[in-house]
Amino acid sequence: MLERKSIRRFEDKEVPRDLIEQIVRAGQRAPTGGNMQLYSFVLISDPYKKKQISQAIGSQRCMQEAPVWIMVCVDWHRHIKFLKSLGIETRWRQVEKFWRGIICAILAAENMVLAAEALGLGSVFVGDPRSATVKIARILKMPDNNVLPVVLLCIGYPAENPPQRPRWSLEAVLHENEYEPASEQLIKDYYEAANKRLVEMNYFKYLKIEGISSWAEHLKMRFPPNQKRVTEEILRKDLRELGFLY
Ligand SMILES: Cc1cc2nc3c(=O)[nH]c(=O)nc-3n(C[C@H](O)[C@H](O)[C@H](O)COP(=O)(O)O)c2cc1C
Repeated sequence: MLERKSIRRFEDKEVPRDLIEQIVRAGQRAPTGGNMQLYSFVLISDPYKKKQISQAIGSQRCMQEAPVWIMVCVDWHRHIKFLKSLGIETRWRQVEKFWRGIICAILAAENMVLAAEALGLGSVFVGDPRSATVKIARILKMPDNNVLPVVLLCIGYPAENPPQRPRWSLEAVLHENEYEPASEQLIKDYYEAANKRLVEMNYFKYLKIEGISSWAEHLKMRFPPNQKRVTEEILRKDLRELGFLY
């Protein structure tokens, strides 16, 4: 766990099916509220479906190189059907449905990331499904509602060994008894140390971002105000359509 890092370059080598299944089994062993297991994982092996998804969310190099694509989804459909089969009608409130589902699916996804690491594989999450959840749901033939694609997990044999990316100090993230707001100094120290490290490791060149030489510029570039608002609007509309928001 302390060695893990995102891997974005993969060897052109298939991952045996039994390893993929072991990874998914490890995902299933994650804690899950009320043992509800509110997730499904769609293994996308069909090149045509990969192309459709790439068109819907945009294609990153890690997606093109990764032999294994797993769409991690929040899935209330199966659980509600299961309860119905027992004569139990449920009326979950929307925010709770979203909250519980995301926790459940993401805990399982992280177990899968760690399982991949333990098996000598590398992985990276792609968060772009949030810009086209309904389209993805339709491409992957999900039910009309109650299934929400959340992240794409790309897995394969690593073809790179990048340095670990910086993190906040333990002091910044670990509080005892009382929350302590980050001081100006702590924030300054974090930026300076992290920026130095990212420049040293050629991070911006690695990400193939032109004209960026500091982390501040990179962060600024990632938050163009208009584009973020559009994503928010699309996400809200899609969440409504998929039954996760009023
Ligand atoms: C929800 C989520 C979405 C992510 N989306 C992307 C992505 O679209 N492309 C990418 O290259 N990395 C993506 N990542 C990986 C992060 O960029 C990466 O975890 C972070 O920069 C820290 O690096 P590390 O994982 O190597 O420690 C994502 C990670 C998470 C948790």
